[in-house]
Amino acid sequence: MDNIALLLVKEEIAVVGVNTRHLFTHTKGKIVATEVIILAAGRGTRMRSKLPKVLHAIAGKPMVEHVIDAAKNINAEAIHVVVGHGADLVRSRVNSSDIQWALQEQQLGTGHAVAQAMARVNEDAIVLVVYGDVPLVATETLAALVAAANQTTLSLLTVLLDDPQGYGRIVRRDGSIEAIVEQKDANEDQLAICEVNTGILAVSAAKLNQWLPQLSANNAQGEYYLTDIIAMAVADEMAVIAHHPNNAVEVEGVNNRSQLATLERFYQCQQASQLMLEGVTLADPARIDVRGRMDVGEDIVIDVNCVFIGDVTIGDDVSIGPNCVIENSSIGSGSVIKANSVLEDARVGIMCEVGPFARLRPGTDLAAKAKIGNFVETKKAKIGEGSKVNHLSYIGDATIGIGANVGAGTITCNYDGVNKFATNIGDGAFIGSNSSLVAPVTVGKNATVAAGSTITADVDDDQLGVARGKQRNISGWKKPTKNKA
Ligand code: UD1
Ligand code: CA
Repeated sequence: MDNIALLLVKEEIAVVGVNTRHLFTHTKGKIVATEVIILAAGRGTRMRSKLPKVLHAIAGKPMVEHVIDAAKNINAEAIHVVVGHGADLVRSRVNSSDIQWALQEQQLGTGHAVAQAMARVNEDAIVLVVYGDVPLVATETLAALVAAANQTTLSLLTVLLDDPQGYGRIVRRDGSIEAIVEQKDANEDQLAICEVNTGILAVSAAKLNQWLPQLSANNAQGEYYLTDIIAMAVADEMAVIAHHPNNAVEVEGVNNRSQLATLERFYQCQQASQLMLEGVTLADPARIDVRGRMDVGEDIVIDVNCVFIGDVTIGDDVSIGPNCVIENSSIGSGSVIKANSVLEDARVGIMCEVGPFARLRPGTDLAAKAKIGNFVETKKAKIGEGSKVNHLSYIGDATIGIGANVGAGTITCNYDGVNKFATNIGDGAFIGSNSSLVAPVTVGKNATVAAGSTITADVDDDQLGVARGKQRNISGWKKPTKNKA
């Protein structure tokens, strides 16, 4: 009775799935849908971390998200992530909707893990199994693996390693794959095999549904090994074919922080190579970090130790000095960002000069040829064409017109402790050094503010505003002398 009910429900799910798939097939001309199962339930003890392993980041993005993105890149119809250790945290941190989560409460092995996701996998699909802690597997590698799999062929990603220690070994007879034997279950001959299982494979869902219930935990680790399906496939007279990745690093997993760092460097090296191919000169390709996406023009020069975060767009002929951190910002053609500048959510127009030691905070918008010099902080500041804020200033909640000059040490006093207020500075205005502009306040076009002023009322166009103590010079001033005790 129960079984029948369950079957009916399953059938309904299948029907819904088939319908959607037909639509998909129709629009995209795809013949077989691929569903990806990402295994991410393991604890990752060797990370020695409170954070679940798959949330540790490569290039600022959790490892599991790299894998999810790779799955999206092959147009997977569904992405299932099997979580266990820290499941809630993984679910809440992963910045990706349209994930089907499966919970594996106890980590009883990779076969058991895959089984947890199968209830929601369409029977007609090809299933691609990947690991959440193998973050750099290339889209092309996955696509090739999936393309080779069908109802009668299982495709397996393998690599040849000088040191196969720890991996499942690929056992072949007369050249054909027969089985995978885990390190702990292998005999001496098998341990000598250098072709190893990466864990990544593509296979029909229908076959998986047939084989997974037959797995047993009768092995050295007492686990349900996914790898045992290889021998089952061979017994069912399916073809089992091996694919290799272009670069073995792609299939390296992360078990500890040292391996995490190795993969980070590999990834950054790839980013650097790509940038150079796109026309960027890097002072040292080993000393740049890209934690997001860069959209670059040609003839850009980037000095050492720069970090780029989020979406960064850089136009032609831009030069970036050493030690800059640039986050979610755009830099127009011909601009120069000098050493040690930090930009966040900022827009720099063409032919601007920024830094050294400038800090452009969110909402900074520099028009063409604007200059922001050393130890200047800007926030929600629109700086007009050719205007200069060259030294030691804070410009926040401000709009500065065209061709204005803001002297050293000028502060926009934008905050009364509760609310923020705006400062407006007109075209051609000149703000003398060490002035405080107490907002809300407007300094008009071509107006001048005398150095050292505390401006609390508007200065109209063409006026001079002076707001400081008047100087007195006292003649015959006697300098103090030392008391004689
Ligand atoms: C597995 C393979 C081995 C292969 C190696 C490659 C099996 C039995 N062995 O071994 O042939 O050479 O990967 O790295 O498949 N996981 C779960 N739930 C579990 C167990 C594992 O989600 O119950 C996840 C882990 O989080 C990890 C992945 O599956 O992402 C692999 O698990 P791991 O324990 O590292 O497998 P290995 O023993 O290294
Ligand atoms: Ca492993």
